[in-house]
Amino acid sequence: MNTDSQVRIVEVGPRDGLQNEKTLLPPDIKIALIDRLSSTGLKTIETTSFVSPRWVPQLADAAEVFHRIRKVPGVGYPVLVPNEQGYRIAREAGASEVSVFTAASEAFNRANINASIAESLQRFQPVLEEAKAEGVKVRGYVSTALGCPYQGEVPIADVVKVAKQLYEMGCYEVSVADTIGVGTPAKARAMLHAVAQEIPMHALAVHFHDTYGQALANILACLEEGVRVVDSAVSGTGGCPYAKGATGNVASEDVVYMLHGMGLTTGIDLDMLVATGAWLSAQLNKPSASRVTKARTTADT
Ligand code: HMG
Ligand code: MG
Repeated sequence: MNTDSQVRIVEVGPRDGLQNEKTLLPPDIKIALIDRLSSTGLKTIETTSFVSPRWVPQLADAAEVFHRIRKVPGVGYPVLVPNEQGYRIAREAGASEVSVFTAASEAFNRANINASIAESLQRFQPVLEEAKAEGVKVRGYVSTALGCPYQGEVPIADVVKVAKQLYEMGCYEVSVADTIGVGTPAKARAMLHAVAQEIPMHALAVHFHDTYGQALANILACLEEGVRVVDSAVSGTGGCPYAKGATGNVASEDVVYMLHGMGLTTGIDLDMLVATGAWLSAQLNKPSASRVTKARTTADT
């Protein structure tokens, strides 16, 4: 049993959240969002993606956004890169932490990055080598860890295999992701348990989308299993452009509320996070997907 009471939230809203939002936000709003998040006590904020702008138009301003955000000492600002080209552009923009991403199912990977799983790992090899030489931290994602929009069921052994490869290639942390939000707690727990037989639990993170409303329950099950790093997005925005029907990540406000209620610490000021989530939903002109933000802002009016 993991008795550590500290949980690190990896805020992915500016990247995973915004990448699938139809309303194109100008760089100034994205910068204001990240700067606000930097004041909440978050320790890790995934800020943007250096992917092809043709594939993800919302994040075509990655370099400008990364340049202009306030970098608070002690806060990590990773960015997503799909290949060496993205890595180089990210480095030129000043990034010192990156995330690479592949999947446990072939069809999803093909739709998302136009590569097989093996090809994607080959693409990451030079990224990981350069990163090691340059002292850049690399995080790895395994998408479709609890189900694939094309293949359906994904064998746990496939998730374990890909996660292990990313870790062995040098990723300091591997985030196992329920990209389409279909997982349920016992399955999530079994998957994490199996991955943790190969990778130390302290190097694992969980990443849930909330399509079927299971994300908080899944996180609770994974906390009981021992994980202490959780990905989430303020206001529960977004989804994956290459996973039709998938909704946003679990809302950071809801995760933090649950964690604090359990006596776990995050270092995050929930009121500031709620204010940021309410502000973001106004920018996107849509209601927040966070139940906590809805409850608090309704109570205020
Ligand atoms: P491709 O078309 O196969 O690539 O795309 P290519 O190598 O043939 O290049 C085509 C063009 O893209 C070229 O330009 C390249 O220069 C350019 P052209 O000569 O045609 O003008 N290009 C780039 N431009 C900017 N930055 C780059 C870059 N690389 C190539 N890094 C590629 C392959 C990987 C580029 C493309 O498929 C892509 O960008 N995919 C990104 C998809 C994406 O961002 N998906 C969402 C993120 S993943 C996710 O959300 C899941 C996660 O949250 C976890 C979970 O929930 O599961 C992480
Ligand atoms: Mg995601």
